[in-house]
Amino acid sequence: MMRAALFFVALAAAALAACAGAPNTLDVSGYPSEMQAKYEIFETRCSRCHGLERPIQARVADGGWKAYVRRMARHPGAGIDAADQRAIAEFLEYHHRREAQR
Ligand code: HEC
Repeated sequence: MMRAALFFVALAAAALAACAGAPNTLDVSGYPSEMQAKYEIFETRCSRCHGLERPIQARVADGGWKAYVRRMARHPGAGIDAADQRAIAEFLEYHHRREAQR
C-alpha cells in the first residue's frame, strides 16, 4: 500500500516536471572550464529562492545580466557578494549568447 502510494507520488512529480518543460539544470560539459566554474557559483547562489529554470529561461538583453544579478542580490538574505555577482553575470551572458547562436 505504502509502496503504491509512493509510486504515484513519484509519477505525479515526474509528470509535473515534464509539464513545466523548463530545465532547472544545464549541461555545461562543453563549456570552457572557466565558465564551468562560474556555472557552479550560479547554481549554488541562484537556486536558493527559486529554481534555476527562471534565469535559464529568462530573456534578458545582451549586457543586461549584470543589472539583473545585482537586483537579485539585493533581495533580503540573498548572500551573493560582489565577486560572485560578477562571475554569475559573466556566466549568464556567455550562456545566453551561446544559446542564441545555436
Ligand atoms: C534571496 C532570494 C533570491 C535569490 C538568492 C535569487 N532570486 Fe531571483 N527571484 C527572487 C524573487 C523573490 C523573484 C520574484 C520577484 C522578482 O522578480 O524580483 C525572483 C525572480 C527571478 C527571475 C524571474 C523574473 C521573471 O519575470 O520571471 C529571474 C530571471 C531571477 N530571479 C534570476 C535570479 C538569478 C540569476 C539569481 C542569482 C544571481 C537569483 N535570481 C537569485 C528571489 C531570489
